[in-house]
Amino acid sequence: MGLEEFLLSLPVGFVPWPEIAAKAGVSLQRARHLAQALKERGYPVLLTDQGVGLAQDAPAPQFLLPRLRGRLGSPYRYLGRVTTTQDVLKGWRGAPEGALVVAEEQTRGRGRCGRSWLSPPGNLYLSLLLFGPAPKLLALRVGLALAEAAGFGLLKWPNDLMSPDGRKMGGILIEAQGNRLFVGVGVNVECAPLPQSAALREFRPVRRVDLLAEFLRALEEWLVRPPSAVLSAWRDVNCTLGREVRVQTGKGVVQGVAEALGDAGELLVRTEGGLRIVSAGDVILGAPQNIIDPQKG
Ligand code: BTN
Repeated sequence: MGLEEFLLSLPVGFVPWPEIAAKAGVSLQRARHLAQALKERGYPVLLTDQGVGLAQDAPAPQFLLPRLRGRLGSPYRYLGRVTTTQDVLKGWRGAPEGALVVAEEQTRGRGRCGRSWLSPPGNLYLSLLLFGPAPKLLALRVGLALAEAAGFGLLKWPNDLMSPDGRKMGGILIEAQGNRLFVGVGVNVECAPLPQSAALREFRPVRRVDLLAEFLRALEEWLVRPPSAVLSAWRDVNCTLGREVRVQTGKGVVQGVAEALGDAGELLVRTEGGLRIVSAGDVILGAPQNIIDPQKG
């Protein structure tokens, strides 16, 4: 029996060695060796003299796959420590639409705008394959699915998941190669790796496998909703409009008040020099301003 099969044979919770060895059809010694090897590869395996167990919330295939109802999430690769799930997915030859890679840790997690994404154990790191052409407003759709799966939090333009007190809990990176779209999502579930970030569990108990299943379910729905529904839902859960913003764009900094979301998902910023249209960039939020959102009437 190989490592992957042994991993799949592990139930939630703790199992005595004789039981898991019998279930896997291997000797006690081989069972211990396989469990140790999984742990060394970054899987959340709890080992004691008495037995072995997978972390209760591990997004292992045997817990995730029975939860999936749609086409997203299958086939599924669940990995321990990787460089970045984005590159693992890009290197997965012949992967069909809906293919999913999840890792327990990333050593070279990538963020938007050339930043890195710190990826310690305990959080959720996933990459999902979609085929183009991308639906309009894809970035907003993915953000809405994430906010819905988390069950709380607000979206900072375009799709950062923020805690109610304004710290970043999750981020989305969409990369394209030809007609393949790699939707990368990182969520701080257990661990907030930076002072300005937050973890979901500071606010409520969350199991990563539940969060992942909910995200895939929600995304499937958001992918086919009409653009008008996406724009209106985003406006309802955003924490950007009506705030002072400083946006780092490819062409420099745009500073002003985030006044509205355009129909193509762009941010309209009222600056001293007039209205500026920002279609990509990184937002730093400032103080709320007293403006009337023309889209809310
Ligand atoms: C951001 O900067 O807000 C986007 C962060 C995206 C991080 C996720 S974690 C899973 C996937 N793999 C990566 O290397 N990046 C994305």
